[in-house]
Amino acid sequence: MVIGYSGVDVQPDARPLIEMMEATARWPAVHELRAWERRRLGLRPGQRLLDVGCGLGDVAIALAEDVGPSGSVVGVDASETMLAVARERSAPVGTSIDFRLGDAQALAFGDGSMDACRSERALQWVPDARRGLAEMVRVLRPGGRLSVIETDWRTLTVDVPDGDAVDAFVRAAAVLRGPGFDLGGRVLNLARDAGVADLEVVGAAHVWSRWNPDTESTPPGLFPLQPTVDQLVERGLLSRPMGTRFTASLADAARRDRLSIAVTMFAVSGHRAG
Ligand SMILES: C[S@@+](CC[C@H](N)C(=O)[O-])C[C@H]1O[C@@H](n2cnc3c(N)ncnc32)[C@H](O)[C@@H]1O
Repeated sequence: MVIGYSGVDVQPDARPLIEMMEATARWPAVHELRAWERRRLGLRPGQRLLDVGCGLGDVAIALAEDVGPSGSVVGVDASETMLAVARERSAPVGTSIDFRLGDAQALAFGDGSMDACRSERALQWVPDARRGLAEMVRVLRPGGRLSVIETDWRTLTVDVPDGDAVDAFVRAAAVLRGPGFDLGGRVLNLARDAGVADLEVVGAAHVWSRWNPDTESTPPGLFPLQPTVDQLVERGLLSRPMGTRFTASLADAARRDRLSIAVTMFAVSGHRAG
């Protein structure tokens, strides 16, 4: 099992995953991409929206305003833990959203049943992202809007003197994560292959320039550093000394006020042709 979001409900403790998602939702780059997506979706009252891999439901809740009481929003996620939080959060807003368990690779909705379908940083955790995207297109009516926001972990830059440790970590993480690692940079062509028209794409980077390694286990929203290194070592993908050099160089940079880490996310938007 990879530490992360591919099997949230089987993790011994899902709290760090929830905290990580909440930290990510505060990134300026995420705000920027979500605002761009919302303009591109151009939802109207009465429309039906699906959020695939909706997590804690914050975007589904926000977009429910755009479709109004005559419209409907469905959030699908593979984790009951995430869905429970999403349901709790939507209740006080007075928005009725159908948050339900499901797999992005086999959506339980009819062909052409949605006016819009979005997914954010979820397909990178799905074993077959191409199939997930095909499912999103299938459930869209012709002309319906598709929107996908994804990270490309190939864009991870870490400016520390020990570049060898960074390279070794990134190579090992790419093997561990498989095709989800670089989905962000591939999603535009996957959408073209899936028959999405009128495609537009934008990118936004998140930059970590500050972190207190004595009080925070990892820079906010970044993957959990030590558990990830431990997992790479256990799987024989990274040597223990190299893993230690990697975490130590990040902590050292942060303590010297020299932290500079960045990763880029991409948002792709278009509509179902035909
Ligand atoms: C990084 S979180 C992103 C959540 C949310 N979209 C956001 O942007 O805050 C990834 C989500 O994808 C869900 N997920 C992972 N595999 C899935 C699958 N096969 N089908 C549906 N959801 C899945 C996880 O449970 C998790 O809630």
